[in-house]
This record gives sequence, C-alpha cells and structure tokens, in this order.
Amino acid sequence: MFQILTILLLETQFSMVLVLFTVEVPQQLYIAEYGSNVTMECRFTVNGSVDLGLLTVFWEQKRQGSLKPKEVYAFRNGKALCPSQHPDYIGRASLLHSELMLGRAILQITDVKITDAGSYLCLIDYQGVDYKYIALKVRASYKTINTQVMRIPGEDKLVFMCQSEGFPLAEVFWQNENFNLSGSANTTYTLTADGLYNVTSILTFKPNTSENYTCVFWNKELNGETSAHFSTLALISTQYTGQKFLISLIIPTCVTVAVLLSALIIFQKRKSFKNEQHEKGDDFNSQTEALYLSTVTASRDSGSVDL
Ligand SMILES: *[C@@H]1O[C@H](CO)[C@@H](O)[C@H](O)[C@H]1NC(C)=O
Ligand SMILES: *[C@@H]1O[C@H](CO)[C@@H](O)[C@H](O)[C@H]1NC(C)=O
Ligand SMILES: *[C@@H]1O[C@H](CO)[C@@H](O)[C@H](O)[C@H]1NC(C)=O
Ligand SMILES: *[C@@H]1O[C@H](CO)[C@@H](O)[C@H](O)[C@H]1NC(C)=O
Ligand SMILES: *[C@@H]1O[C@H](CO)[C@@H](O)[C@H](O)[C@H]1NC(C)=O
Ligand SMILES: *[C@@H]1O[C@H](CO)[C@@H](O)[C@H](O)[C@H]1NC(C)=O
Repeated sequence: MFQILTILLLETQFSMVLVLFTVEVPQQLYIAEYGSNVTMECRFTVNGSVDLGLLTVFWEQKRQGSLKPKEVYAFRNGKALCPSQHPDYIGRASLLHSELMLGRAILQITDVKITDAGSYLCLIDYQGVDYKYIALKVRASYKTINTQVMRIPGEDKLVFMCQSEGFPLAEVFWQNENFNLSGSANTTYTLTADGLYNVTSILTFKPNTSENYTCVFWNKELNGETSAHFSTLALISTQYTGQKFLISLIIPTCVTVAVLLSALIIFQKRKSFKNEQHEKGDDFNSQTEALYLSTVTASRDSGSVDL
C-alpha cells in the first residue's frame, strides 16, 4: 500500500495526467419527455484498453426532498449487480457496455417516469475513484386536449370544457377575438397515478358577437403551448342541421298519418253505409240496390285517386 502510494507520488511529480483518475460529465442537465428514453453520460480516464474486470460503475438517484437514494444500476468486475437495484428501475435501466471500453459510462433509462427526475450520482472505480452528479428533469407536454361543449338547460349559457394531462402544472387561459376570459373560468386539477397533473378548465358564458373561443395550456418550463378551439358558429349550424333533420322527419310522418287517417275515415263511413244498406236491403227492390252499389264503386275509385 505504502509502496503504491510512494510510486504514485513519484509519478505525480513527472506527470499529473497519468495518475489522476477523474470522472467528467459532458452534460450536467438532461431534460426528458415523459415516456421517452434518456441516456446520461459520465466519462472516466482510461489508459489504453479497459480491463472490465477491474472496473466498478455505480449509478444512484436521489429525488429532490427525499432522503434515501435509490440504486439505479451497479456494475462490478464485468457484471451487472442486480439484487440491490431499486424496484423502480428494474427492466428500465441499463449501462451501454460497449461504451465502457471507450471510457464512457452511459446510463440508459427507458419509458421515463415523473419520479425519475432528480439528481444522479455516477461513481466510478478504475484504479482510482471519482464521482459526479447529473440532474434529470422530466416533462410531459399537454399534447392532447379533450374538449366538451354543454348547454345549460333553461339558460342561454354555454359551457366549454378543456381537459389534459401533463407535467409540470400548466395554467389555462381562455380567450375569444376580443377578450381574455380567464377570469370567468374554473380550473382544477388532480394527480394521476403516474404523477401527472390532470387539469380540467371549465368556462361558462353567455355567447355574444364573438364566434371563436380558445383554451390555452401554458407552462414556462414546457416548450410551446397547446390550445383547443371552439366555434359558436359551428354550434349554431349544428343546431340548425339538427332542426332541419327533425323537420325532414316530422313532415313525412305527419303526411303519412293524415293520409292513413283519412283513408280510415272513408273506409269506416263506407262500412256503416254498407251495413245500413244491408239491413234495409230487404225493403228495397233490386233496382235501387244496383244503383247504390254503383255509387259505392264510383266513390271507391275516387278514393283511390286521392290516395
Ligand atoms: C498507461 O499505459 C501504458 C502502456 O499501455 C503503461 O506503460 C503506463 O504505465 C500506463 N499508465 C498508467 C498510469 O496506468
Ligand atoms: C426506448 O428504448 C426501447 C428499448 O431500447 C425501445 O424499444 C423503444 O422503442 C424506445 N422508445 C423510444 C420512444 O425511443
Ligand atoms: C370550481 O369547480 C370545482 C369542482 O368542479 C368546484 O368545487 C368549485 O366550487 C368551483 N369553483 C368556482 C369558483 O366556481
Ligand atoms: C382526468 O380527469 C377527468 C375528470 O376531470 C377524468 O374524466 C379523467 O378520467 C381523468 N384522467 C386521468 C388519466 O386520470
Ligand atoms: C361579449 O362578452 C364579453 C365577455 O363576456 C363582454 O365583456 C362584452 O361586453 C360582450 N360584448 C357584447 C357586444 O355583448
Ligand atoms: C373564427 O375563426 C374562423 C376560422 O378560424 C375564421 O374564418 C373566422 O373569421 C373567425 N371569426 C371571427 C369573428 O374572427
């Protein structure tokens, strides 16, 4: 031990570079999209080819505000050490082994979760020990906005609803061509099991001259904003086509019913007429009976023309 130290000290005097084992990070902060894959890199000093049997790489994560770090990945003597890995990272964390030969300890995390955000320690032991920290931020953009339109029965008010999930928490703004309507909106949120914010914003208003309404999800940390548009014009035309549809259904129905009713009335009249005739038939002579029959036939013909 003392011998090695003496040698190292002697070597130091000749060349600092040869003896100093260091770990460096080309990038200190990574920002990953929720559900994507991220790779974070630490570089360590190598002299020629790397003997993996002598190498130890250790990655550990600590969330902001939590005391206990989680083991993300451990590599010792050429092998991954699985038993001590934190359950959160099982099957999602790996070290790109081929890169180790080049002095690069690259940690890959797949299907990034909100809880993966935090501070990562990479500690490397290769004939010397050193470590560095890397920060990981996770974002989830409010990609799809679900919309819903309701009409308050009895009042001439409309209700627009926008709902989306993301991280970090977004503000929701409402506007039409002329006004910022955010003041009259009610925005609430819940947390999903995955740690995303489930944001719902409801705007209740009396439609007036404005046609176009927009809800905007905005957060300064997220790149860009997402928005959804409503048009009251479309609503009115939807209502109109709805009425047209009703009319096209009602008119033929009324006509059919009227025709059937009149046919039924005519039929009933004739039936009672026939019965009367039959009862009184004995009293009439055959000549008058023939006359009646011809009248009935004639009116029956005209009836069929009406139909
Ligand atoms: C670096 O490698 C060369 C040859 O491979 C060797 O002579 C030298 O001692 C090595 N230096 C250190 C500090 O390991
Ligand atoms: C993430 O990595 C996994 C495994 O390497 C791969 O199957 C998947 O397609 C990758 N996902 C993305 C979004 O690149
Ligand atoms: C906003 O909505 C929530 C739930 O829908 C409700 O509890 C709350 O009273 C509403 N706030 C206002 C100011 O309307
Ligand atoms: C988000 O909240 C809405 C109601 O506000 C609910 O219908 C929806 O299922 C929630 N989504 C998730 C992923 O929790
Ligand atoms: C339309 O509505 C906005 C906000 O609700 C209101 O400030 C404005 O005066 C209204 N305009 C008309 C012409 O009614
Ligand atoms: C509403 O938006 C549509 C399409 O985006 C546009 O054609 C129309 O002129 C807008 N209406 C007003 C009043 O600005």
